[in-house]
Amino acid sequence: MNVKVNDSFEESSLAAADLIIETVKEKPDSMICFAAGSTPIRTFEILINKSKSSLIDFSNCTFVGLDEWIGMDKNDKGSCQETLYTSLFVPLNISSQNIHFFNTKSSNLRVECKKIDQIIANNGNIDLMLLGIGQNGHLGFNEPGVSFDSFSHVVNLSEVTKTVGQKYFEGSRELSMGITLGIRHILDAKCLIVLASGIKKNKAVYEMVHGKITNEWPVSILQTHKNCQAFLDKEAACLLNEAQ
Ligand code: GLP
Repeated sequence: MNVKVNDSFEESSLAAADLIIETVKEKPDSMICFAAGSTPIRTFEILINKSKSSLIDFSNCTFVGLDEWIGMDKNDKGSCQETLYTSLFVPLNISSQNIHFFNTKSSNLRVECKKIDQIIANNGNIDLMLLGIGQNGHLGFNEPGVSFDSFSHVVNLSEVTKTVGQKYFEGSRELSMGITLGIRHILDAKCLIVLASGIKKNKAVYEMVHGKITNEWPVSILQTHKNCQAFLDKEAACLLNEAQ
């Protein structure tokens, strides 16, 4: 893992956008997986501006969703899909044919998992993932205790995730289960970009960079990825300096 600590989150977002642009220029038909959540939003804004200046063209890319709250879709304000549509896919005018999400309202979620696993397998692997990290060290909804061999799966969310997740919604929401790509998808991805900002992420960032590799901190497995670039701000990285 390559770690870059920037003075500001703006610098991290610009660097992430540059790396995304470089990757898509090299492979214009990349399969891309962008996390939702708050962290990537500034990167998305930068990508939209670059796209307006014709510095990047996503029209041949395929997008696959990372995770979703069970029972929600793009009509639920604050869901992962709604976030990605509003902050990226609609402004970029991405064709719906090129977007693949879990249907969390399906009566058979195992079939949904298989469907997404197959879409990714048909591409080989995911070319590029932009990941955020949870305060509890989750990646997507790969929660503490997850198998490092997992593909797509349905998960009972941790108490931390249920509590922190309320920030995405206007009123209080019942959050109990999620669906997510697996750790195996993340490990098999050709290029990983991880963004983390703010003091609340400092422990997870420490475990990601210096921690023992354990499924109690799913982020720690990123230490084994050959092409993983983390962009951190000083607050998120504050425990790293103490460790050196
Ligand atoms: C959320 C999502 C993840 C996201 C992470 C960090 O719960 N399941 O996909 O990357 O936690 O979110 P945020 O960027 O809002 O801190």
